[in-house]
Amino acid sequence: MSNRILHKGLQAKVMSAEAAAALIPNGAVVGMSGFTGAGYPKAVPIALAKRAIDERLKGKPLKLDILTGASTGPEQDSVMSLVESQRFRFPYQGDAVTREKINAGIIEYQDMHLSHVGSMVRYGYYGKGKNNLDFAVIEVTKINEDGTLVPSSSCGANNVYFEHADKIILEVNSWQDERLEGMHDILSVSAVHGSRQPIPILAADDRKGSKYWSIDLSKVVAVVESAHPDRNAPFKAPEEMHKRIAQHILDFFDGEVKAGRLSKHLTPLQSGVGNIANAVLVGLNEGPFDQMISYTEVIQDGMLDMLDSGKLVAASATAFSVSPEGQIRFNKDIDRYRKQIILRPQEISNSPEVIRRLGCIAMNGFVEADIYGHVNSTHIVGKGIENGIGGSGDFARNSAYTIFMSPATAKDGKISAIVPFASHIDHTEHEVNGIVTEYGFADLRGKSPKEKAREIIDKAAAPEFRPFLWDYVKRAMKNPSAGLHSPHMFEEAFSFHTRYLQTGSMLPRK
Ligand code: COA
Repeated sequence: MSNRILHKGLQAKVMSAEAAAALIPNGAVVGMSGFTGAGYPKAVPIALAKRAIDERLKGKPLKLDILTGASTGPEQDSVMSLVESQRFRFPYQGDAVTREKINAGIIEYQDMHLSHVGSMVRYGYYGKGKNNLDFAVIEVTKINEDGTLVPSSSCGANNVYFEHADKIILEVNSWQDERLEGMHDILSVSAVHGSRQPIPILAADDRKGSKYWSIDLSKVVAVVESAHPDRNAPFKAPEEMHKRIAQHILDFFDGEVKAGRLSKHLTPLQSGVGNIANAVLVGLNEGPFDQMISYTEVIQDGMLDMLDSGKLVAASATAFSVSPEGQIRFNKDIDRYRKQIILRPQEISNSPEVIRRLGCIAMNGFVEADIYGHVNSTHIVGKGIENGIGGSGDFARNSAYTIFMSPATAKDGKISAIVPFASHIDHTEHEVNGIVTEYGFADLRGKSPKEKAREIIDKAAAPEFRPFLWDYVKRAMKNPSAGLHSPHMFEEAFSFHTRYLQTGSMLPRK
């Protein structure tokens, strides 16, 4: 047994992943750890998938409702979806197999703001038992002698799953560096609507909670040892396109500093993951801004670079999402990073109250945006889900600056990211301040819908699509039934999408 299980009573609960998985009844509602490929259980979900194969052969397919913090990794999402053992999935995924099964109608998926997860579970929308959930399966780094738990590489919604599960399985992962101890700040929000207290985070790097999870140990029915790495995706150096998008954002910040609306420290940064977000962080690391701080969801390689250079003084998040090289670098300097990085439960990292108080700068990717500034972050051509809204809504609605970024076209130029009417709307014109593509930064502040349309088409749309977007707006403005506040012709509002579905391109045939 590993020397990471120090509590005597829990030592007696150590068993194989297969034995632990066998304890979970068919039809159970299971809360699992995991956020953006970090800190998710690996051994028990694999054992559940193997069990699902056996049970299917016996004619009793294993179907579980799986709740997590956010996306997990192949050992959980891919394998459990492949054998169709996830009946219901909540609140976010980013996995190719799971996506396919959701879009094929095999998995029921509820895509949800990540700050809302805790409340929704506490109010009993998912489970059936007295605590709501049947099981929690949570990865931890270590079990201390007194039974407190050193969290893993994400906090996610674990606090709620620990609290609301009838039974708990702990996965102690020896791949996680033991020196993560002390990096977390575990603070719970009061549960009942109407009697909540303010969250006492007044600065992005405030620490107001505990370093450990404290749980009801009598609920622990199994302890499983594992040594699987997190899903650390390789880091890709920014391409020219990503650098151009990033440069427009940096120029915008520069303008805000010159206008006296921002200092050169900016306000706390929130940054999504992916190539564009990383390119922005690379640009910020090389640019004129300094002593920045981050209040975000995920720590990626670009943030480690900024902490190394001293441009970023601290970073608060709920999880890591680093490359394998980033992980090596992180482990090497973990004692320094521990002083600069704080991992919090997702209802604190994504708390609208805290985000609004701090005046964050939110920078996230989008799938498509329409000419009036409504943003679709989740649905491809309005139908198939890509990933989910994640924390983008938590930050978009409440930040001081809300910026969405994407290449101006997708699928070899056949799809325009700017369309007359977004085919699904996650973020409305009321919270979106900036739409950025490689062509420019459409600044929507202080503008009416028609003024926004001019800004978005002329600055952010790909030049080859601009004439068709203008044609739509101009004709709508002359159409007495289109309305002159945000003119739309319903019979043509989705013409770009229908043309794509019919011809394979949003561009009309010549
Ligand atoms: N129409 C059709 N397909 C589109 C599209 C569009 N308008 N825009 C993008 N796509 C496709 C891309 O072609 C790509 O497909 P592929 O995987 O088959 O190549 C896929 O969608 C992903 O797009 P990509 O350009 O690689 O962007 P990305 O990795 O930066 O992801 C989002 C963009 C919007 C999907 C991603 O940012 C996301 O999931 N956002 C929502 C959650 C979020 O914001 N999280 C952070 C909050 S803290």
